[in-house]
Amino acid sequence: MTKQSAGSRLDTSRPHPARVYDWLLGGKDNYPVDQEVAKRLPPESRLSALRNRAFMQRAAAWLAGTGIDQYLDIGTGIPTSPNLHQIVQAVVPSARVAYTDNDPIVLRHAESLLAGTPEGSTDYIEADVRAPGAILEHARTFLDFGRPVALSMIALMHFLPDEEDPCSLTRTLVDALPSGSYFVFSHGTTDEHPHLADSVKDTYRKGAIPLRMRTRAEVEPFFAGLEMVEPGLVTATRWYKDSPAPAEELSGFYVGVARVP
Ligand SMILES: C[S@@+](CC[C@H](N)C(=O)[O-])C[C@H]1O[C@@H](n2cnc3c(N)ncnc32)[C@H](O)[C@@H]1O
Repeated sequence: MTKQSAGSRLDTSRPHPARVYDWLLGGKDNYPVDQEVAKRLPPESRLSALRNRAFMQRAAAWLAGTGIDQYLDIGTGIPTSPNLHQIVQAVVPSARVAYTDNDPIVLRHAESLLAGTPEGSTDYIEADVRAPGAILEHARTFLDFGRPVALSMIALMHFLPDEEDPCSLTRTLVDALPSGSYFVFSHGTTDEHPHLADSVKDTYRKGAIPLRMRTRAEVEPFFAGLEMVEPGLVTATRWYKDSPAPAEELSGFYVGVARVP
């Protein structure tokens, strides 16, 4: 594994999305300021985080099964086993995985936790999705963009308000992928439980974390121009490839995998 920009400082005086999410997943890499936000969220949030994570794992396993051996994951979060590289390298040991996050705490853990298989390797880029050019520039030094790459952005873009134009940022990243690549995406929504919308948003807002949950109609444009893989754009608990989805459960996320034509 290699890393970049290690010089950042960790700010434990205000909550960070990676650490709030870590608490929701039952992790230990969070501070009282993060716990304060996480504990005020509706209890359903913990299940949502787990179900989102489970989608990532199913999608990664499916992609590796198709033979994809290069991955660019943006908004990686604090490592929680199994991580994306562990899943894909179990299927394709030589797979290369570039992780990216803008939170210094992820970098701190990346070094110890993101060790790849002897045949494959992982890389870590400390960067912001709002600077897609910089991410691509570094990713090109590690991944071969002449061959298919899977770009994953899981539970990331709801931290970007509309003014940041998250769809255009996504487009810039997807446009850099060659034909046959894949885009794996999940995005928070309160469509399934509108009564929780205000409390989730207010809790994050009080913690000074911007949160922009989006409706299905607002999530669809992230996939513009791409070929949706079955079962299409669905809630996290409906995305299954090799087995039937369990009875409908609340997930709090829209998810999808799409192929670059
Ligand atoms: C909810 S966590 C999701 C982690 C992981 N993708 C998953 O689904 O298990 C969101 C992650 O996105 C990162 N993040 C938030 N805004 C970001 C930005 N502008 N650029 C890069 N990463 C960002 C946070 O630091 C956090 O680690």
